[in-house]
Amino acid sequence: MLRDRIRCRPLVDRIITADEAAAMIQDGMTVGMSGFTRSGEAKAVPLALADRARRHPMKITLMTGASLGNDIDKILAESHVLARRLPFQSDPGLRKAINAGEVMFIDQHLSETVEQLRTGQIGPVDIAVVEAVAITEHGGIVPTTSVGNSASFAILADKVIVELNLSQPTTLEGLHDIFIPTQRPARMPIPVVTPESRVGLPFIPIPPEKIVGIVVSEKHDSSANIDQPDDDTRAIAGHLTEFLAQEVRKGRMGNDLQPLQAGIGTIANAVLHGFLDTPFHDLKMYSEVLQDSTFELLDAGKLTFASGSSITLSSDMYARILPRLAEYKQKLILRPQEISNHPEVIRRLGLICINTALEFDLYGNVNSTHVGGTQMMNGIGGSGDFARNAYLSIFVSKSVAKGGIISSVVPMVSHVDHTEHDVDILVTQNGLADLRGLAPRERAPLVIANCAHPSYRDALLDYYQRAVARGGHTPHLIEQALSWHQALRERGTMLPG
Ligand code: COA
Repeated sequence: MLRDRIRCRPLVDRIITADEAAAMIQDGMTVGMSGFTRSGEAKAVPLALADRARRHPMKITLMTGASLGNDIDKILAESHVLARRLPFQSDPGLRKAINAGEVMFIDQHLSETVEQLRTGQIGPVDIAVVEAVAITEHGGIVPTTSVGNSASFAILADKVIVELNLSQPTTLEGLHDIFIPTQRPARMPIPVVTPESRVGLPFIPIPPEKIVGIVVSEKHDSSANIDQPDDDTRAIAGHLTEFLAQEVRKGRMGNDLQPLQAGIGTIANAVLHGFLDTPFHDLKMYSEVLQDSTFELLDAGKLTFASGSSITLSSDMYARILPRLAEYKQKLILRPQEISNHPEVIRRLGLICINTALEFDLYGNVNSTHVGGTQMMNGIGGSGDFARNAYLSIFVSKSVAKGGIISSVVPMVSHVDHTEHDVDILVTQNGLADLRGLAPRERAPLVIANCAHPSYRDALLDYYQRAVARGGHTPHLIEQALSWHQALRERGTMLPG
């Protein structure tokens, strides 16, 4: 079985233990590990590294594709081995260490990390640790359920450790499309012209001599921890799909829409799930994470093709999909995140991008990352890559959080991830605001009337009217603009007192 998976014969002799692999990682090194939204992460070496760091304190910079499963970010944070972490995470334990200032977190557009590495603006990567389903005859690494940044980490690092995961099905081979942009000044266009375009290799091409160790593992990916659709997310999906149906009626697109991108998390997954009950058909996705809803739409015959950088599913969906992966292969591609999220490709394909806001303001500025303006939640992820370059940039959110004590529609966001210039449509369970072609003074009344929760509408209108009385292109009462966040901190609620 091992020989089927390590097809480059000389490499069979390089099988080592996770402890031996972890011992190659030295204090102060920069390590690039596979893993994107809880799938395809290296699973054995980081745990051995955490063990080692607990006994012999050391610090590294850890780069990945995005978040890691199997509690790896938590365990690494608890072992205090992380000095710096980029470009994304979603673990409560690591989040705590970041917000305490113990771990320096670089919250980065997901398309940018390897571009900065390749040009020497950050890095270099000393060691790459990449989960694989197989190694080809010539030493090519076949990734597992995510590609993320693994290809560039392996190509740019001095040394590569492969985690060969025997629990990942060999049918994954052939799913990946590894394309690396050429170096400047002679960089050519990325030849992805439809979501289905295959433009690269089905493995990561590296010289086999760079593989310094192969660690065999059998640990499964963690399942996605997303909630099922509820009344609010169903209402959000309803407003959004009705809006898209209107766009079709106006002749702006057909019933196959434009290719879809949907962000991570419960709300985005639920919104995509809502496409099941629509007249749209022959849909395509050009996204980042392929979640449960992608496969529901494929099974229902609504979606004909999905391109992403990882597959992250609930445990039921994993049990359903993984044994039947061969059937889905013709309808799926996994790409490096640099390509799934590339501005050039996003703009060329004309994507409808649906991402989630923690809060947004009267003028359409969106905060996706910082609770109360200071506390990191997860990170911007790919939302900025997609929002700025979208054909239609849509942000969804429940209109209130934490049982109603927090309004997601605020006078001014406490942190800006997506500026008003990058946001076309806002949707909550209360309604939808189409901001296209509107000036700030036209946007605010619409956002208040359509998106705000009824318990906050009057207070928002009062703020806006007093701001208008003072004047300005984008009216604000600067001294009161963040007073809602201040009220939450001091009184425990944004509700008018
Ligand atoms: N203030 C404080 N907390 C808030 C809040 C606000 N304005 N709005 C939401 N929250 C809390 C919720 O109460 C919930 O808390 P819990 O985990 O304690 O229950 C948490 O944030 C998650 O919100 P939820 O409503 O369940 O939405 P979600 O799972 O869809 O996640 C984001 C929403 C914004 C956190 C998530 O989408 C994200 O990290 N986005 C940024 C990255 C991104 O968009 N990537 C995709 C690009 S492809």
